[in-house]
Amino acid sequence: MILHDRIAEILPAWRDRVNHLVTEHRDFKVCDVTVSQIYQGIRGVQIQVTDISYVDPYEGLRLRGYTIPEVLEKLPRLPGCEFPMAGGLYYLLMTDSLPSYEEALEVEDEWKKYAVIPQYVIDMIHTMPRNTHPMTLFSQGIMALGVDSIFSRQYLNGLAKSDYWIPTLDDSIRLTAKLPALAAVIYNWKYRDGSVIAPNPDLDWSGNFAYMIENPNNHEYEELCRLFFLLHSDHEGANVSAHTAHLVNSALSDVYLASSAAMNGLAGPLHGLANQECLRWLLKVYNSFESLPSKEEMADFARAELKSGRVIPGYGHAVLRTTDPRFTAQYEFAKKYLPDDELYQLVCRIYEVLPGILKETGKVKNPYPNVDAINGTLQYHYGVREFDFYTVLFGVSRILGITAHAVWARALNKPIERPKSLTTAILEERVAGKPDTVEVEM
Ligand SMILES: CC(C)(COP(=O)(O)OP(=O)(O)OC[C@H]1O[C@@H](n2cnc3c(N)ncnc32)[C@H](O)[C@@H]1OP(=O)(O)O)[C@@H](O)C(=O)NCCC(=O)NCCS
Repeated sequence: MILHDRIAEILPAWRDRVNHLVTEHRDFKVCDVTVSQIYQGIRGVQIQVTDISYVDPYEGLRLRGYTIPEVLEKLPRLPGCEFPMAGGLYYLLMTDSLPSYEEALEVEDEWKKYAVIPQYVIDMIHTMPRNTHPMTLFSQGIMALGVDSIFSRQYLNGLAKSDYWIPTLDDSIRLTAKLPALAAVIYNWKYRDGSVIAPNPDLDWSGNFAYMIENPNNHEYEELCRLFFLLHSDHEGANVSAHTAHLVNSALSDVYLASSAAMNGLAGPLHGLANQECLRWLLKVYNSFESLPSKEEMADFARAELKSGRVIPGYGHAVLRTTDPRFTAQYEFAKKYLPDDELYQLVCRIYEVLPGILKETGKVKNPYPNVDAINGTLQYHYGVREFDFYTVLFGVSRILGITAHAVWARALNKPIERPKSLTTAILEERVAGKPDTVEVEM
């Protein structure tokens, strides 16, 4: 398949680069770790190398070196479509180069071969209690698909280490192929009549999700899916879900196990679940006013929220120090497709006012909106109003990046992760300048 051929072509040069770093500069110190970093979520410790994506504090996300506007401009799109095919994005993430139209289509065609969800997975979802969170169902569905892992089967048969990446890529294509259909099975069972709608072979990967949930605004919602699934596909290698997947996969657990684990991290309220909180807050603001609040009214409202010790969802970021370009891309979408939507107008009003208010606090490092400040508004507009489902949409997209990381981790022979933990006593001795009284492996 085209992704296999392209990766095989570029892999020797990548292996040389990594081998050179590891052999010639093995003792070069990359960064120090402080006590506060150890106790505060290993924040900022540079523990991971990935070439799939990078978040620049001032430019935002780059996917394989391309900014979001560049990716949106350069990736191929189907005739009559405004936004690119996810197949082209996957080609870029996997192979480090922009695809031609034909190459993007080839990935889309490969996905079509594996897009249908096996009946046993549907049955498993349909027998779960109705109140199961959709992220639990999504994670279970991914695990269940893993019974067919090619990597796990070949590994048992003595696969050579240098070839681990090949069945990892086979698994990745088969897993990602099914994600829109898996999400649609969950959506239709949780919130609709439980119908299982087969993917439409005439549609691309992203557009198919809109089709399978029978969204009444099909064409526009298909476009939103193309944009949304592109924007959320990756965000460096050390956030909770990416790092979880990397850690689990480093034990040679296959990509189904690793992606499912990543989704369990994404399901946390401090990570992927944050987007549902943003829409909840937006609706709270909306319901607090009879009509669109003036700038002054909005400023007073925001100050009162901050005074009562609440954070404003959708604003701030651990790494970014500017407006998230993924926010901007969806803001532009809304400006074009839903300019009269009252929630979108409220998003605009908040954007006019809030950065100034957050700056007044003197402590918020990034007073600008992140991607979650608008995500839910767009879904809500197109009738996908079940907040707890939004993280599943995020997950469908994010597994594109996660599997690309996994293929490259295996291709570059990254070993099992095993950092070291200390005891409080060891740390107390060290800060007091005493030598370690127990042996600590360096
Ligand atoms: C994203 C977030 C968790 C980043 O946290 P962080 O890296 O610690 O951010 P900062 O370093 O700027 O935080 C410094 C202070 O500003 C506060 N702050 C940051 N963003 C804030 C916001 N949106 N509203 C109110 N206060 C905020 C922090 O709570 C912290 O206060 P403290 O010193 O009293 O604890 C944080 O900005 C936040 O909670 N945002 C709202 C939730 C959200 O949008 N999450 C989705 C992220 S993609």
